[in-house]
Amino acid sequence: MGNLDGKVAFITGVARGQGRSHAVTLAAEGAAIIGVDICEDIPSNGYPMASRDELDETVALVEAAGGKMVAAVADVRDFHALKAALDAGVEQFGRLDIVLANAGIATMAFRELTIEEDLEMWTDVLDVNLVGSFHTAKAAIPHLIEGGRGGSIVFTSSTAGLRGFGGLQGGGLGYAASKHGIVGLMRTLSNALAPHSIRVNTVHPTAVNTMMAINPAMTAFLENYPDGGVHLQNPMPVSMLEPQDISATISYLVSDAGRYVTGVTLPVDAGFTNKL
Ligand SMILES: NC(=O)c1ccc[n+]([C@@H]2O[C@H](COP(=O)([O-])OP(=O)(O)OC[C@H]3O[C@@H](n4cnc5c(N)ncnc54)[C@H](O)[C@@H]3O)[C@@H](O)[C@H]2O)c1
Repeated sequence: MGNLDGKVAFITGVARGQGRSHAVTLAAEGAAIIGVDICEDIPSNGYPMASRDELDETVALVEAAGGKMVAAVADVRDFHALKAALDAGVEQFGRLDIVLANAGIATMAFRELTIEEDLEMWTDVLDVNLVGSFHTAKAAIPHLIEGGRGGSIVFTSSTAGLRGFGGLQGGGLGYAASKHGIVGLMRTLSNALAPHSIRVNTVHPTAVNTMMAINPAMTAFLENYPDGGVHLQNPMPVSMLEPQDISATISYLVSDAGRYVTGVTLPVDAGFTNKL
């Protein structure tokens, strides 16, 4: 018996990193997983997206944990492709209970950019992180309401969704703006969906040990941040969390233990957003 027996979860950006960890964690607790990933690079982004092989590996890990998963390649910027993938999964598993809008990019750079590059980074990060989160919710909400059993939506924001850092270039500014925007989306949906017992929350991780945080473009960006990035350190003695640390919080939020938690911006950040 798991906490999530009989439930179905939709997760974006599921091929690696936090999305994969959430899929395996929720599957181990009994949920069936519908997962999508872009599996194709985004040219303005300074590091690669996940591959089709990695998406297949997530499916294998979910199955090894005793779960079931339907996976599809879909870009969260393409509403109709995303909806088609979700609808097919709901058709197969018969219901939807949990939605994790996790897919995201961080187009940070530390180099001279042309104005065209700078504008493209802003646009791409807003499109993936904020428009993609809206698309995810928009595709999922009719299924949740139709089910009549309530539900839980969790948007993955960031400490950059609660605090102002990211520098002067379009990528960093766009990342912070998109992650703050997700909070507005969450708060409004939380009010609108409460009568249906559908809960909506954001999680705000500090740095997590995934490709997004450890690629050379991000390393260069952080090393060249004012004061060498010292004020980007966590108060607790940990430089990076592991994906499982975020999965554990999400697992609580989507379970019955969190059944009256909604409208909350929940940091998982080793004290980062609370520090002086
Ligand atoms: N890693 C960190 O330090 C950190 C900190 C705070 C918040 N976050 C957030 O956590 C979430 C997960 O990121 P991660 O750390 O696992 O990084 P990651 O780069 O390992 O994983 C992101 C996944 O999203 C997929 N993806 C990207 N764009 C997509 C699109 N348009 N459509 C579908 N899939 C797409 C990628 O292929 C990848 O599999 C993101 O929203 C990110 O902003 C990360």
